[in-house]
Amino acid sequence: MLAKSVNFSRTTITELMIPSYANFGGKIHGGILLSLMDKVAYVCASKHAGTYVVTVSVEGVNFLQPIEVGQLVSLHASINYVGRSSMVVGIRVIAEDVRTGVQKHTNTSYFTMVAKDDEGKPTEVPPLNLETKEDTRRFLEAIKRKELKTTYAGEFDNEKTRMKLEENLHLLKNERCIVSDEAQNP
Ligand SMILES: CC(C)(COP(=O)(O)OP(=O)(O)OC[C@H]1O[C@@H](n2cnc3c(N)ncnc32)[C@H](O)[C@@H]1OP(=O)(O)O)[C@@H](O)C(=O)NCCC(=O)NCCS
Repeated sequence: MLAKSVNFSRTTITELMIPSYANFGGKIHGGILLSLMDKVAYVCASKHAGTYVVTVSVEGVNFLQPIEVGQLVSLHASINYVGRSSMVVGIRVIAEDVRTGVQKHTNTSYFTMVAKDDEGKPTEVPPLNLETKEDTRRFLEAIKRKELKTTYAGEFDNEKTRMKLEENLHLLKNERCIVSDEAQNP
């Protein structure tokens, strides 16, 4: 299978934030951004794979700055990593006020997409041609995040199986919750 460059599938979608995208506070709904991110991840990954793809997991979604109606939102997507059938698409979201030209980076997220064949089974994708230091750095960082995710998932599962309610109730002492008698004495 011939390798494809990062540039081959690099994709940008720019969309005007219209009033119907806003919540009651006048800011853009997080769900609208998620949907746009999923769309750009799909375009980028399917271009690299040359097949239909599905979204498998999403990392790093934090909405740190609000986006306003009337701003232009650009979603820049590129393949950061490829496995056998999976691809990690890095997405950088930039909101721009066209009147002032001021741009703000609202978040960077990572979508894992898997290529599917005509029977709906995961299928091999082309290797990634790392042409620049930036491409190589992103590929390496994706491997690191994948390792961290595996470690974290293992620890999380262990915690779930290990956690005994009675032994851990003290952890709720400074939390903003009220534990009923029934919950304390199951
Ligand atoms: C994810 C899915 C493709 C895995 O299928 P599977 O038959 O278990 O296949 P595999 O175990 O071979 O996994 C395929 C790839 O997905 C990756 N994968 C599976 N689960 C993953 C997860 N939670 N996070 C990241 N990657 C994951 C595997 O590492 C593998 O990657 P690789 O081929 O590059 O090594 C399958 O569960 C699926 O189709 N899920 C539904 C996806 C969907 O509909 N998304 C839209 C959401 S509404």
